[in-house]
Amino acid sequence: MRRKLAAGNWKMNGSQAALAELEALAPNVTATGTEVVLCPPATLLSRATDLAGPIGIGIGAQDCHAATHGAHTGDVSAPMIAEAGATHVILGHSERRADHSESDADVRAKAEAAWAAGLVAILCIGESAAEREANKTLDVVSTQLAQSVPDGATARNLVVAYEPIWAIGTGAVASLAQIIEVHDFMRDELTKRFGVDADGMRLLYGGSVKPANAAEIFTAQNVDGALVGGASLKAADFGPIIAALAAS
Ligand code: PGA
Repeated sequence: MRRKLAAGNWKMNGSQAALAELEALAPNVTATGTEVVLCPPATLLSRATDLAGPIGIGIGAQDCHAATHGAHTGDVSAPMIAEAGATHVILGHSERRADHSESDADVRAKAEAAWAAGLVAILCIGESAAEREANKTLDVVSTQLAQSVPDGATARNLVVAYEPIWAIGTGAVASLAQIIEVHDFMRDELTKRFGVDADGMRLLYGGSVKPANAAEIFTAQNVDGALVGGASLKAADFGPIIAALAAS
C-alpha cells in the first residue's frame, strides 16, 4: 500500500510572510493520513521546517549539488539541506534541466548525493510538446527513468514525478488517458528494473494540478499524488488538492 503524497513546489516564489500559507494547511494535514511536503526556496528552508514540524508537514528543497561541499558558488549541498531540517529534495525539474542545462547524468549524481544525506528524491521527468507530437513520449520517459534514476532506488528513497513540460504552468493539464498511459508505463519500467520494490515507489503527476481537476487525476491507479506548482502557493488552493487526494 503506497502512502499518498501531495508535494508543493514553490519555485522562486515565497517569503517569510508567505509561510503563513504553510501554517494555514494545518487542518488539511491533521484531518488526513496523506503525506504533505512543501518545497520552498532554500532561504526559507530552516524557518519552514520549524513551522512545519508540529503540523506534520515535511519540507523539501528544490535542487541540490552532487558534491557535499566545495568551490561551487551559489549552490547548496544535500547535507546542508538535511541540516536545515528538510527531508526531501526535488531533482531534475524541467526548469532546471532547461535553465541550468542539467542532464540525466547530473540528475542521477544529485539523487545519489541526496540519498547519502538521507533525503528522499522527488525526481522529475517528462516530455516536451514537440516530443509528444512526434509520438516520443514513452521513449523519453523510458530514457529519463533509465538514466536519471540510480541503481540504489527504493520505495523509501525515491518518488518519481511525471511532469509533461507542456502542462507546467500553462493550465493545459494532461488528459486522464495520457496520465494513465504514462503512469502505468512508468510502473512497468520500474518493475522491470527494481522488481517488487517498484510496487512501493510513489508516482506523482505534475502540471497544472488545481482543485478543479485534482480529484479526476487521482482516480488513476498508478497516480499516488501530485507535484503542485502554482496551486501550492495558497492554502486555499493546495488544501482542497490535499483533501481530494485523501478522499481518493
Ligand atoms: P504547475 O507546476 O502546477 O504550476 O504547473 C508544476 C511543477 O512545475 O512542479
